[in-house]
Amino acid sequence: MEYRRLGKSGLQVSTLSFGSWVSFSKQINDKTAEELMSFAYDKGVNFFDNAEIYALGESEKMMGRVIKKKKWDRTSFVVSSKVFWGWRGKENKPNQTGLSRKHVIEACNEALQRLQVDYLDLYFCHRPDKNTPIEETVWAMNHLIQQGKILYWGTSEWSGVEIMEAHRVAAQYRLIGPVVEQPQYNMFEREKLEKEYLDVFRTVGLGTTIWSPLASGLLSGKYNDGIPKGSRFALQGFDWLRDRWVGEDKIKKVKKIADLAKKLGISTAALSIAWCIKNPNVSTAILGATKKQQLIENLKSLEALPLLTPEVMEKIDDILKNKPVLPDY
Ligand SMILES: NC(=O)c1ccc[n+]([C@@H]2O[C@H](COP(=O)([O-])OP(=O)(O)OC[C@H]3O[C@@H](n4cnc5c(N)ncnc54)[C@H](OP(=O)(O)O)[C@@H]3O)[C@@H](O)[C@H]2O)c1
Repeated sequence: MEYRRLGKSGLQVSTLSFGSWVSFSKQINDKTAEELMSFAYDKGVNFFDNAEIYALGESEKMMGRVIKKKKWDRTSFVVSSKVFWGWRGKENKPNQTGLSRKHVIEACNEALQRLQVDYLDLYFCHRPDKNTPIEETVWAMNHLIQQGKILYWGTSEWSGVEIMEAHRVAAQYRLIGPVVEQPQYNMFEREKLEKEYLDVFRTVGLGTTIWSPLASGLLSGKYNDGIPKGSRFALQGFDWLRDRWVGEDKIKKVKKIADLAKKLGISTAALSIAWCIKNPNVSTAILGATKKQQLIENLKSLEALPLLTPEVMEKIDDILKNKPVLPDY
């Protein structure tokens, strides 16, 4: 397994990591979570991703039970959580969501309890909070670092401008700024990584922990002939996600990507994930999985990387026709 540093920080994460969104506690039980996390860990995965909102706190609890049971050396892995949406769903009251100092600090304490760890290695602002000054959030994150409750902090789906504002505040008050962003990046979602963040990468530096490298499974080709039973898009309450991804145009493209993968002798999922981590501005792609077989297949993306020659990358761009256009000055 290859490891990459998060931006200009000293923290190293495995190029492939493992996350719990949708799957933990909704689709899989403790036994499967343990099987998947153990398999990943044994293959060199050192980063496990979570969030307060996943399964309304139950996902963190499940991951915490596995971590406790496995007794892995705490220095050998990186675990994250994210703050913004709260964990009470429709029951959320004021101050139980957002990025105010109150919620950031209370949510961190709750996440530590659910995950049964003394500190989070990474703590993400799950979305920007338009109602809280960025300055307040930067101070709150700095406070948690000084308390030893988190080691590094970052953002998720923030604009480049918002990330730079966090850095400006941090520099002004000599606080510790964000080192990492968690954006979506896959063959159908390219703007932020390949265009918007370029100046952030060049100037202050920014690690990226990529979410949905397979566009929720679409880029494995599993939806090419309909929606398989038990898959994410077949789950109750996930119609919005299915409607977002499953469309004639996208499926046509995935079928062409699948043909290319076949010619290269690899799976569509391995090709799609390899394409994602081929980008040098990607620190790690967070894998999601409900079955060990999926992880086995997806980890093969590491072996597939050398197959992604400039010619193959050009073929992929010809299929996708969505390469962000950069100014030519
Ligand atoms: N920051 C954010 O806003 C944000 C948002 C979303 C996710 N995340 C993080 O990113 C992680 C990964 O996101 P994701 O789960 O959406 O990743 P993904 O790789 O796009 O989708 C993973 C899902 O696709 C299916 N799948 C995976 N490999 C497969 C294979 N080889 N063949 C067939 N099906 C396969 C599985 O679902 P089924 O078996 O159920 O079909 C699996 O759970 C999450 O766990 C979470 O930690 C963060």
